[in-house]
Amino acid sequence: MSIVGESVKRIDAFDKVTGRAKFINDINFPDQLVGKVLFSNKPHAYIKDIDIKEAFSIKGVHTVLTYKDIPGKNINPLIIYDQPFLAEGKVRLCGEALALVAAEDEYIAQLALEKIKIKFEDIEPILSPEDSLKEGAVKIHEKGNILKEYRIFKGDVEKAFLEADLIHTGTYTTGYQEHAYIETNGMIALIERDGSITVYGSMQCPFYVQKAVATILNFPFNKVRVVQTVTGGGFGGKEDVPSLVAAWTALLAYKTGKPVKLILNREEDIISMSKRHPSITKYKTAVTKEGKILGTEVEFIVDGGAYTTLSSVVLWRGTIHAVGAYKCENVKITSKAVATNKTHCGAYRGFGIPQVVFASEVHYDEIAHLLGIEPSKFREINALKVGDEISTGQKLKFSVGLLETIKKAKQAANWDEKIKIYPLIEKDGRKRGIGMSTNFYGVGLGAGGRAIDKAGSFIQIYSDGSIIIAVGTTEMGQGANTVLAQIAAETLGVNIDKIHIMESDTTRVPDSGPTVASRTTLMSGNAIKNAAEKLKEKLLKVSAEILSVKKEDLNIKNGLIEFNDKSITFEEAVTECFKRDIPLFETGWYYAPDVSFNEENGQGNPYPVYSFSTNIVEVLVDIETGEVTVDKAWSAHDIGKSVNPQLCEGQIQGGFVQGLGLCLYEELKHDNYGKILNPKFSTYILPTIMDVPEINPIIVEEEYPAGPYGVKGLGELPPMGVPPAVVNAIFNATGIRLRDIPITPEKLRKTIKERSL
Ligand code: MTE
Ligand code: MOS
Repeated sequence: MSIVGESVKRIDAFDKVTGRAKFINDINFPDQLVGKVLFSNKPHAYIKDIDIKEAFSIKGVHTVLTYKDIPGKNINPLIIYDQPFLAEGKVRLCGEALALVAAEDEYIAQLALEKIKIKFEDIEPILSPEDSLKEGAVKIHEKGNILKEYRIFKGDVEKAFLEADLIHTGTYTTGYQEHAYIETNGMIALIERDGSITVYGSMQCPFYVQKAVATILNFPFNKVRVVQTVTGGGFGGKEDVPSLVAAWTALLAYKTGKPVKLILNREEDIISMSKRHPSITKYKTAVTKEGKILGTEVEFIVDGGAYTTLSSVVLWRGTIHAVGAYKCENVKITSKAVATNKTHCGAYRGFGIPQVVFASEVHYDEIAHLLGIEPSKFREINALKVGDEISTGQKLKFSVGLLETIKKAKQAANWDEKIKIYPLIEKDGRKRGIGMSTNFYGVGLGAGGRAIDKAGSFIQIYSDGSIIIAVGTTEMGQGANTVLAQIAAETLGVNIDKIHIMESDTTRVPDSGPTVASRTTLMSGNAIKNAAEKLKEKLLKVSAEILSVKKEDLNIKNGLIEFNDKSITFEEAVTECFKRDIPLFETGWYYAPDVSFNEENGQGNPYPVYSFSTNIVEVLVDIETGEVTVDKAWSAHDIGKSVNPQLCEGQIQGGFVQGLGLCLYEELKHDNYGKILNPKFSTYILPTIMDVPEINPIIVEEEYPAGPYGVKGLGELPPMGVPPAVVNAIFNATGIRLRDIPITPEKLRKTIKERSL
């Protein structure tokens, strides 16, 4: 291989660093109006009346719209249909959209919002999953407050508890996390001359957006074109919610007949868009004194917020990964996503796993300590290997690199030595500690999303030998288009500068599902390889005829098609195809292999393949202030095959910092009315460059036979294992084990003082 495996420069680097890349807010159409949304400041209330008269009468206001103006259906067509585009009858969170305005400028639009008069009748808000689950609790939805439930039963946990040398229990909680993408959500919609609508914007999932716009307008899909513009970060936060923003913008454009641009400002984005789910997870685990996990019982609850949105699938993924990357024959897992009158939580890098990984990896570390077993040994004893079964009964047949990630991370970190001596080191009032975690990740949508786990591609070679590619997945900063171009270049045997990947556009490729679940390199990579191989066949056939050699003998590489001393260039072969009327365009397609899940007992093969990782971190804990500094980290990932090592390292480093934020800094606060108190980057504390430790990425390649060139997936793994590794390192340093994140200095200091360290 010559290009796959090379750290080629990102194809979007130049445009992005020079400012030539056009984000949605850089784009304008003549005659364009500004769209704005009225968001509710009530967490739970009946809507008695909406009076838009005064707002409408303001000069420069083109339209004011409520649910009554929707020509199609007022329901976001996601998995479980319970979220309206615009509140109808009832509001269920502070930050729900009530009305829309299109005006000539931002100030007029804002003024109009202030003149909309709404009569509410308050309902008691439910602000925690505990309150939501109480008997007789106020119902947020007709169907009740449980949005979704899952269970996994394997073996006999009761028997495991009887046979155990030690039974350990613990409850672990995690908080909200805001995606904090640099670019807030935004769209432009316009009605075209032929009566169809085009929507441009920042998004991960153009095909979700297409469906939402078609639903609100009652348009057939063939009259809704969605184009993803350069997107300044998604991290899951642009999976489902862009559908709302696009639907609002499309409705305004449809009603006014003019292009409408609707960009949320930071505060609007934070109060109304999705977040990472807060969670409560209880573990009760049976082990032998030698450290073998015999059985575990898990109760996993996530706070879904006011609407189901993606909670059902986030919960599913978390449930399946709740045992961690270990063998365990006896398992009982029950899980619930619960409604509250707060922001609807959705996808955020890791998608339900960071919550259970935090809980299980801290829990197992506690067990290792109780048994007097060195924590990495405990993990090695139980680690999944080829041939083992996960909690759903799936037997892992290939590509299980977990032990290799543990080994490589330990070696690089000099773990064996440090784990012994670090707790003894104290310098300038700071204690030093080291900690570890492992985790695994089912790549793709799996059985939970099998129907949409597919991807298409279109490749055309022009007569000058340049190549254009369309895919249905999106580039959002992760580097997908660069690795996809590498896969195309590798397969076609050309240099990467021959390839141009178009912006994602729903009219160019078939529905390729969402750009989530770390599936892009695997799914679109295979779809591209599929089309490229068909084109390569055509080129080789023609070349073989010209060179009078057997097609099978020919090799195509670096733009040259050759056998021994005979060769022609890629361009010559292309010219020849054009002469002979051989069409040089092809479509490619890939769908995920068979997967299964039985909802009754949670048994089946939920995902086709898993990636694995191990994180080791070193911390310094200031005993006086409670401040934790992570100063070194080793993050090892088995991802099948790294197409572009430098981009993989970038994913690992960036993701690590997001995990650090979840663990130490980020805390979204609500008042006792369900209103977010800190919807600003000045009050919602994110890690900055000053908090970034030395992060050493390590890549392990246990190839996946069905992946393009062996690829599995990486995108979401990097942040997942960071919080438990940090918490375990804090324990190593101080003997204090906190079970709820974020661990702010205030929280840790309080515990340190209580225990008078
Ligand atoms: N990296 C950057 N720079 N920006 C992002 O928005 N999203 C993450 C991850 N890495 C993201 C990112 C999430 S949530 C997912 S699902 C994957 O990238 C998606 O991309 P992939 O399928 O190419 O891994
Ligand atoms: Mo990623 S949370 O699957 O968009």
